[in-house]
Amino acid sequence: MQNSKARPLPRPVVIAMPGNEQLADELATLLWLERGAATVRRFPDGESYVRIASPVGARAALIVCTLDRPDDKLVPLLLLAKALREAGARSVGLVAPYLPYMRQDRCFQPGETISAQHVGAWISQCVDWLVTVDPHLHRIADLSQVYSVPSRVVHAAGSVAQWIRAHVREPLLIGPDEESAQWAGAVAKDAHAPFVVLSKVRRGDRDVEVSVPDLERWRSHTPVLVDDIVSTARTMIETVGHLRRAGLAAPVCVAVHAVFAQAAFDDLRTAGAGEIVSCDTIRHPSNRIPLAAAIAASLRTLLPEDAARVGRRAPRL
Ligand code: R5P
Repeated sequence: MQNSKARPLPRPVVIAMPGNEQLADELATLLWLERGAATVRRFPDGESYVRIASPVGARAALIVCTLDRPDDKLVPLLLLAKALREAGARSVGLVAPYLPYMRQDRCFQPGETISAQHVGAWISQCVDWLVTVDPHLHRIADLSQVYSVPSRVVHAAGSVAQWIRAHVREPLLIGPDEESAQWAGAVAKDAHAPFVVLSKVRRGDRDVEVSVPDLERWRSHTPVLVDDIVSTARTMIETVGHLRRAGLAAPVCVAVHAVFAQAAFDDLRTAGAGEIVSCDTIRHPSNRIPLAAAIAASLRTLLPEDAARVGRRAPRL
């Protein structure tokens, strides 16, 4: 029998890794979490230093850390998770809107390793649960194949479709390759728009070939390219070139995860893209589609003991 006089659990504490303060603030407001503080910096020799700078007590702790450019972030993240546990945290969860290394999901050549599995194992050793946004699930069907801790996947399709409905006249959704069919299809359904999926052959990091079918019947539409990750932007640049040569309007380019390596963003603009927009899983000037509310909704399912209190006292989403 439940003891009605049981003391309520203390509010969970949310801590931002550097660069993740905005999402941590938004989640704190949406879920009535306490905002914690940590120092994360580098020693002159390049090693990482972390220190929990606010009381944690026996609270549930959440770290917010998107993991683009992951090699510089993983070591301090794993140390911070350890420090939180040693400071007494009851549990440590990770909100990583962008999950890295998911594209190395098999050995493409002899001598390689499946990085997705190893990175998943390292992170799973240090946290109790994970929330992310549209991880690149292609040859890996489900996150549980690489993450041994409970995870929740937030889907951006509804928010992307909402943006398209509000900003694009007569959209034609285009997925640049077979892998993108899942995202482009879901967005098209929510946006009540037609969609086509192209085929792509990747020969190297920056060498891709995209085949485009006859699009004559869609000439009056606005092409909207949707992909989960834009990294070198070669996939989108190739596609934009084909569409422009076929006489279509400048395509709107939508990325869930705006990685944009080196000069990729400018390259895509120069290649003839129309508006370039992204979700805010990685901070970038192209961010137009906020996902904090969707992430908060997913987090509620992992913080059940706090959900009732959120309903009573926190601002509504
Ligand atoms: C395919 O694996 C992904 O869904 C994206 O199409 C890919 O990551 C895009 O990469 P890039 O921008 O380097 O062409």
